[in-house]
Amino acid sequence: MERLGSKQEVRQAVGEARREGKRIALVPTMGALHDGHLSLVSAARERADYVVVSVFVNPTQFAPGEDFEAYPRDVARDIDLLGAEGVDLVFTPSTEAMYAPDAEVMVEPGPLGAVLEGATRPAHFRGVCTVVTKLLSITTPDLAFFGEKDYQQLAVLRRMVRDLDLPVKVVGCPVVRECDGLAMSSRNAYLSHEERAAAIVLYRALRSAETLALDGERDARVLAEAMRSLIESEPLAELDYAVVADAITLQPLDTIGPAPARGLIAARVGGTRLIDNLALEVV
Ligand code: PAJ
Repeated sequence: MERLGSKQEVRQAVGEARREGKRIALVPTMGALHDGHLSLVSAARERADYVVVSVFVNPTQFAPGEDFEAYPRDVARDIDLLGAEGVDLVFTPSTEAMYAPDAEVMVEPGPLGAVLEGATRPAHFRGVCTVVTKLLSITTPDLAFFGEKDYQQLAVLRRMVRDLDLPVKVVGCPVVRECDGLAMSSRNAYLSHEERAAAIVLYRALRSAETLALDGERDARVLAEAMRSLIESEPLAELDYAVVADAITLQPLDTIGPAPARGLIAARVGGTRLIDNLALEVV
């Protein structure tokens, strides 16, 4: 496995793989890798011949006062894990290598990036779209892998690739969870013992909506209310949003079915903001 920090070197290495006729996959990450990230790597390994993983904590997607400085970083461990997964190339650029000091052009996600996460973090998806566009441009993959854990991010990026005619296929991968249902996240490391126990309330809330839907409840407000009241019953959790939305447009729904619906939740547990989501199906 190669580890490279410069865009030029990455272009060369990927160019060589392409000349050998290899199918190229990109898995963008911010490091502090866990089994959720590694599931994307193994999906990429299955569908491509040359797998590139980027590890870059992207400053433009963090607002001032968010956790950019505190974000967990352990590149040596990340490299070991990726080596064991049979990754071909790890791209670990510095901020200076990634962004020109006077860079000012950014990719605007539009309305899909302004709701839910975007309502609380207004510049977040602009930073995500910008860095992912740059990573796609540098690594020119055939396939790019993203997790449903960040469901809105996946929706925004699919839309960006479609609207800007970017020559890549976006592949979404299911949420990987801890045994008790908590969605794996690098930010779970911030949770105290009590907060970790309280954090499963997000998944419990989503499951309660799922059960209601499977029992025939179609009123999206009833499902959203069920999620809200469960989160509110947990003293350590503070709800940001709990919504039932169209799975593609993320617009809030009045009733669920026949179009796919998704329950989406964001809540603070202690000082840590957590998100989770689940498909809501009617039978
Ligand atoms: P990061 O949070 O490191 O996540 C990298 C990728 O792993 C994302 O596509 C995310 O959805 C996926 N992922 C994280 N936890 C997961 C889980 N429990 N199950 C399945 N997939 C999971 O998301 C980002 O980084 C950044 O915004 C990035 C796209 C790299 C742009 O900077």
